[in-house]
Amino acid sequence: MVAGARPQFVKLAPVFKALNASGHFLIKIVHTGQHYDHLLSGIFFSELNIPDPDYNLGVGSASQAVQIAEILLKLSPIIQAENPDLLIVFGDTNSTAAAALCAAIHKIPVTHIEAGLREFDKNIPEEINKLVTDSVSTLYFCPTNTGVQNLLKAGITEHVYHTGDVGMDLLFNLGQEFEASKDLLDRMGISAGNYIFATCHRAANTDNIENLTEILRAFAAAPRPVVFPVHPRTYKVMVQYNLLDAIPQCKLILTDPFGFTDTQILIKNAAMVLTDSGGVIKEAYFHQVPSIIIDKQTEWLEILEEGWSVIAGPSFENISRYLHNFEIPEHHGMSLGDGKASEKIAQLIYEYLQSGQ
Ligand code: UD1
Repeated sequence: MVAGARPQFVKLAPVFKALNASGHFLIKIVHTGQHYDHLLSGIFFSELNIPDPDYNLGVGSASQAVQIAEILLKLSPIIQAENPDLLIVFGDTNSTAAAALCAAIHKIPVTHIEAGLREFDKNIPEEINKLVTDSVSTLYFCPTNTGVQNLLKAGITEHVYHTGDVGMDLLFNLGQEFEASKDLLDRMGISAGNYIFATCHRAANTDNIENLTEILRAFAAAPRPVVFPVHPRTYKVMVQYNLLDAIPQCKLILTDPFGFTDTQILIKNAAMVLTDSGGVIKEAYFHQVPSIIIDKQTEWLEILEEGWSVIAGPSFENISRYLHNFEIPEHHGMSLGDGKASEKIAQLIYEYLQSGQ
């Protein structure tokens, strides 16, 4: 299994647990080192009981091209030495695409977990990663029917499975731990149901000062306090361009990133979520908290269709309008899975390997 960035550790944890519990597999974990700060990496390993990686490639931060190139260079000898029967990748980060490509080059079948999703814009780094990964994979585990349909439209028809989202497995299994932690809310000076949880880190928002300024102005003008854990990437830009000097901050609560459990507690007890993170959109949906997407698109169409999310884009006006007028849907279809995706995946991988294909 190869992972390197925060959202992948959250997907790796339940899949590792299911593969391990089945007793059929010898598992090795490679951390690419794309994320290295404790709050983006180590904290998830300890909180989610993921064993220490067998290898850490230590690639660190760099451009998409350099990161992918470095992972290829450093993973290649490991794949040659280990010669695995299968390599598993998650989601759509640079680590995903690089590891998938590397395994395919070495003729190792690639399993893509969170396959088939598309944002239909090649300016988005993650879209390139999705396309590369799906084009070299052998087994496709799709979180939604939209994922399956996208693959079929691309002519990918073999070994395509609709399993549900593995991120949901974790939420179902840890559900009771997310009850309001009064301590955490007290420490932040907020009360349940009376604040907004916000995140912002996608390149389209952080690498465009106009977009980021619109978003921060909308956060600051929100009708309730906004808890905003700041990704280091976003923080650097905010400091470099003095963006916080330009906006009133009385209701903005800026913090370091949170670990998994604290993030879930803060999402679950929020009145609303503002985000450009696909993971946070899904988690808000699971907790039945409405979310406003501060990006121009999302791959989670099922959540949009049910009305739990709306796309505002990086626009002060749209975000503010939705913050004041969001009709919370009466229906919740739990349409991202039943909490058993990882078990299904473990069984399907076993059957694939047994079939000797
Ligand atoms: C990456 C993924 C994105 C995912 C996100 C989750 C890609 C293209 N993007 O974006 O899909 O949603 O992870 O967080 O793979 N940095 C640190 N400490 C770290 C890691 C990064 O300070 O441990 C800073 C560096 O300045 C770095 C910047 O964050 O240049 C961006 O990191 P990078 O891994 O390139 O992308 P993310 O924005 O984290």
